[in-house]
Amino acid sequence: MTDPAGPAGALARIVFRRPEEADHRRLVDRVDHWFGGRSTRPLLGRFWLMHFASTSLVGETLDPRSADPRSRRIVAFLVGFASPDRAGEAVIHLAAVAPEWRRRGFGTAMHDRWLAEMEERGARRAIVVVPPDERVAVLFYRSLGFEPEIAGTRPLWGVPAFADYEGDGGDRAILTRPLGPP
Ligand SMILES: CC(C)(COP(=O)(O)OP(=O)(O)OC[C@H]1O[C@@H](n2cnc3c(N)ncnc32)[C@H](O)[C@@H]1OP(=O)(O)O)[C@@H](O)C(=O)NCCC(=O)NCCS
Repeated sequence: MTDPAGPAGALARIVFRRPEEADHRRLVDRVDHWFGGRSTRPLLGRFWLMHFASTSLVGETLDPRSADPRSRRIVAFLVGFASPDRAGEAVIHLAAVAPEWRRRGFGTAMHDRWLAEMEERGARRAIVVVPPDERVAVLFYRSLGFEPEIAGTRPLWGVPAFADYEGDGGDRAILTRPLGPP
């Protein structure tokens, strides 16, 4: 049978767990690279792994470079939370898949799992805020059924977005997806 994970076969299988504080160094050392050189490290303070671990995920695969066949390496993470002020809102703060492991469905599998968990906890809407020029992020979230908010936006980089949302030059698109029963 063809392995749906691709030519790397069993190595490409991803396993999810909760992040731990001890993962912080490994994640911050990679996060700028995983975000295409954008300075993202300041957005991944250690406190996220201390106070939001139960609403976050890391994904691991077997490490093909290790001599230990059971050794795993982190190839994806999603840091999110249940909004304390906006009841029923599940917020994705940061999510990424290691560049060499992309387009294998890892991002989708991680988000599907997280969305199901958040729905189980009572969330009725998921939200993520992305720069409109992050074409891949926009396409990815749209592939998951997220839609951009329209009211008050204008087209920026072909996406309905809020100009200067995060301050001067910080344009953002707000993408949401309903959760739970209609
Ligand atoms: C966005 C990201 C998490 C997607 O991870 P991934 O594991 O490659 O995603 P998947 O393989 O599950 O892709 C699902 C779908 O998203 C869309 N997509 C993903 N990458 C794409 C790309 N480079 N170009 C066009 N569409 C893309 C496709 O519709 C894809 O389905 P397909 O492969 O059947 O065509 C990954 O590209 C990433 O980490 N990017 C940098 C960080 C980032 O932008 N994070 C999101 C904002 S916080």
